Amino acid sequence: MITEIARAKLNLALHVRARRPDGYHELETLFAFVEHGDVLRIVPADAPSFRITGPFSGALAGEGDNLVTRAAARFAAIFGGGAHSIELEKHLPVASGIGGGSADAAATLRALARLHHVALDDPKLFEIADALGSDVPACLLGRTAIGKGRGEQLETVPGMPGTPVLLVNPGVAVSTAQVFARWDGQDRGPLGSDPLAGRNDLESPARAIAPVIGDVLETLAAQPGVTLTRMSGSGATCFALFESEAARGNAAAAIVRSVWWCVQTRLT
Ligand code: C5P
Repeated sequence: MITEIARAKLNLALHVRARRPDGYHELETLFAFVEHGDVLRIVPADAPSFRITGPFSGALAGEGDNLVTRAAARFAAIFGGGAHSIELEKHLPVASGIGGGSADAAATLRALARLHHVALDDPKLFEIADALGSDVPACLLGRTAIGKGRGEQLETVPGMPGTPVLLVNPGVAVSTAQVFARWDGQDRGPLGSDPLAGRNDLESPARAIAPVIGDVLETLAAQPGVTLTRMSGSGATCFALFESEAARGNAAAAIVRSVWWCVQTRLT
């Protein structure tokens, strides 16, 4: 049995630079990861099976084309390896800007690679990841990195491991495609040398679709000891970085009853 943690992905900054002819958007983003995530367990089996457990399993019930099974099918087509029994323990809210499905797909590829002795930096693994979704290559890498293109052109950078993080979701699911479609087309410039001084250009369109996101960001920004507050990806999950675990704990206690989902974790 191989166990992999599918850690939540954060976009510490996300600059949208241009709309491309293929419908995607040209990005510059700073990816980071937190300790909290889904748990994936894979064991070789006579026949393939897949089950979803955990607190957010209900949101995915009955989905035929889960990214986990698609990742496993693509892996088998290229590397072989036979059938597997896969369990996904779902702890991350679905469609929430922290890469849940992408992290699960990447964890599947990592687990299968370990099981079948494929190098984790094999370019074919990254090709599979790229075809599965824009955030999957970053999740496969799983390290703090600058992402360009759709986010698949990755360059690792030093992270801030151990930084206390609060993840907060107001309980609205926003569609990534819809949020990108409402981007106003204004290029507000590159990431620059200090990405944390940047922004998330999808905050404004996401807030227009779900104004409650603005309420969450304002509440987080008002907490003592906060060093950065931002929305992740296309939302609706927002995050705050804190100067200490005590400050993060106080903020969590202050807001936990007014939001749908709130998790205390750390950057990796
Ligand atoms: O690649 P992925 O399937 O995760 O993207 C979901 C949708 O988000 C795309 O179909 C596209 O509408 C939008 N998107 C985009 N530009 C990106 C990434 C995603 O427009 N860089």
